[in-house]
Amino acid sequence: MLQSLEPKVLEIITDETKSVDTRLGDICELLRNSVDHYDWVGFYFRNGDKEELKLGPYAGAPTDHTIIPFGKGICGQVAVSNQNFVVPDVAAQDNYIACSITVKAEIVVPLFVNGKNVGQIDIDSNTPDPFTEEDERFLEFINRHVAEIL
Ligand code: SME
Repeated sequence: MLQSLEPKVLEIITDETKSVDTRLGDICELLRNSVDHYDWVGFYFRNGDKEELKLGPYAGAPTDHTIIPFGKGICGQVAVSNQNFVVPDVAAQDNYIACSITVKAEIVVPLFVNGKNVGQIDIDSNTPDPFTEEDERFLEFINRHVAEIL
C-alpha cells in the first residue's frame, strides 16, 4: 500500500534540520527502497529561465541525462503538457530518452508551485506495466507537499 508511506514522506519533508535537497534525496531513497516496482526515482526542475529541465536529487543508477530540453523525452513532454505521463512500455514510445536498457516502464508527475509547473518526479521501473492510479495519486501527494518547501 503506497498510502502507508505517506506519514514517513511528511516526516522527511517537514524536517527543517536538513536542506531541501537532502530531504528530496531522502524521499527518493525511501521510495526506491520501499516500493518493488520503483527502480530509479528522481526529481527534475526547470533550469532557471531556460526551456530545459535539470536533474535534482535522485536515487538509483547515475544518468547521463542531467539536462533535458522541454519537449524531449517523457520528462520534456511533461514540462510542456503539465499532465501526468504514465508509460506502460517504454519501447512503444517514439519520444523517449533511454537511461538504462533494463527500464521497461516510466511515470512522470509534474510538480506545481502556485499553479506553475516547476519540475517533476520521475520514476523508472524494470517491471513492465506496473503503474496504476494509486501511483499517480501517491506521487501527486508527494509533489503537493514538496511544493510547500520549495
Ligand atoms: N526516460 C526519461 C529520461 C530521464 S531518465 O528516465 C532518468 C525521458 O524519456 O524523459
